[in-house]
Amino acid sequence: MSFRIQPSPPSRLNRCQLFGPGSRPALFEKMAASAADVINLDLEDSVAPSDKQTARSNVIAATHDIDWGNKRLSVRINSLDTPYWYRDVVDLLEKGGERLDQIMIPKVGCAGDLYAVDALVTAVESAMGRSKRLAFEVIIESAAGIAHVEEIAAASPRLEAMSLGAADFAASMGMATTGIGGTQENYYMLHDGSRYWSDPWHWAQTAIVAACRTHGILPVDGPLGDFGDDEAYRAQALRSATLGMVGKWAIHPKQIALANEVFTPSAQAVTEAREILAAMETAKANGEGATVYKGRLVDIASIKQAKVIVRQSEMIQS
Ligand code: COA
Ligand code: MG
Repeated sequence: MSFRIQPSPPSRLNRCQLFGPGSRPALFEKMAASAADVINLDLEDSVAPSDKQTARSNVIAATHDIDWGNKRLSVRINSLDTPYWYRDVVDLLEKGGERLDQIMIPKVGCAGDLYAVDALVTAVESAMGRSKRLAFEVIIESAAGIAHVEEIAAASPRLEAMSLGAADFAASMGMATTGIGGTQENYYMLHDGSRYWSDPWHWAQTAIVAACRTHGILPVDGPLGDFGDDEAYRAQALRSATLGMVGKWAIHPKQIALANEVFTPSAQAVTEAREILAAMETAKANGEGATVYKGRLVDIASIKQAKVIVRQSEMIQS
C-alpha cells in the first residue's frame, strides 16, 4: 500500500527502437525513413575497437545532417568500463547537434553509474549553453544491473527508458545459452513425458517492469538476434507486451513492422476497452462499482486497464 500516486512514464511512442552501427553511415538515411519510433545509433558493441573514432564522427555528423523527422534520436555510448565513454559524451555534447534527444547507457550496474554520467552531461551542457536537456535510457544486461534495478530506475531525473539486453545479461548471469533472447531449448518442464517450454527471461522482465512503473520509466524489451524468424520475434514481443513492456528493439529492418504490430493495440482491443469504460460509466450512474461485460466481471481496476489501451491508441492516432 502506498499513498503515493504512481508516476506516468513519458507520453511518447516507443514501440520499436531500430539499431544501426555508427560505423555504417550508409544505413542512417534508411533508418530515418523507417517506421521505427526510436533510432539508436550505436557506438558500442556493433562497432569494432578500431572503428570507434570514425563511428563517433559519423554519428555526430548525423545529428546535424540527417532529417530524423519526428523520431526519437538516441545514441548508444560505450559502457563505463571502457576508455571510450567519456569522449562519446563530451564530443556528442560539444560537437553534436541539438537534434539529439537522448543517450543510451549500456551495462549499468548501480545508481552511481547514472550519477557519474549525469554529472558529466550536466557540466558539458552548461559549458556549451545547450538549451535542450539530454535524456537517458539504460540497458539492464548484467547480474549487478538486475540486482540493483530499482535504485537504477530512481537514479536520474533524465532517465526515460530501460531495456533488457538478453545476450550480455545471459553471459553475466552465467546462463547456459547462446542465442540472443527467445526460447531456450533446455529450459523446459517435463509432464507426462511431454516437454513444456518456459521463459527464462520472464523474471528479469518483470523486475524491470516493476522498477520502471514505480518510477515512471518506459520498460522496453531488447533484441532478438534471429532476425530470420518472424514467429519467434512475434512470440517474444507478445510475451513482453503482456508483461507491461511498451516496445522492443529491431536489429534488422524486417523486425520493425513486427514490433509496431504487437505494440499497437488492435482495433478490437481499443473497441473493447472503450466499451468497458462505457459499461463502467453506466455502472457508476447506477451506484455500482462492478458490472458484467461480455459475461465477465469488470470493476474499477478494469477502468485502469482499459485506459492504458485507450491512451496508447490515442497517442498513436495523434
Ligand atoms: N537499419 C536500416 N536499414 C538496414 C539495417 C538497419 N539496421 N540493416 C540492414 N539494412 C538495410 C540494408 O542496407 C539493405 O538495404 P537495401 O535493400 O537498400 O540494400 C536491407 O536493409 C537488407 O539488409 P540485409 O542485407 O538483410 O542486412 P545486412 O547484411 O546489410 O546487415 C546486420 C545485417 C544484422 C549486420 C545489420 O542489420 C545490422 O548491423 N543491424 C544492427 C546491429 C546493431 O546495431 N547491433 C547493436 C544492437 S544489438
Ligand atoms: Mg549488450
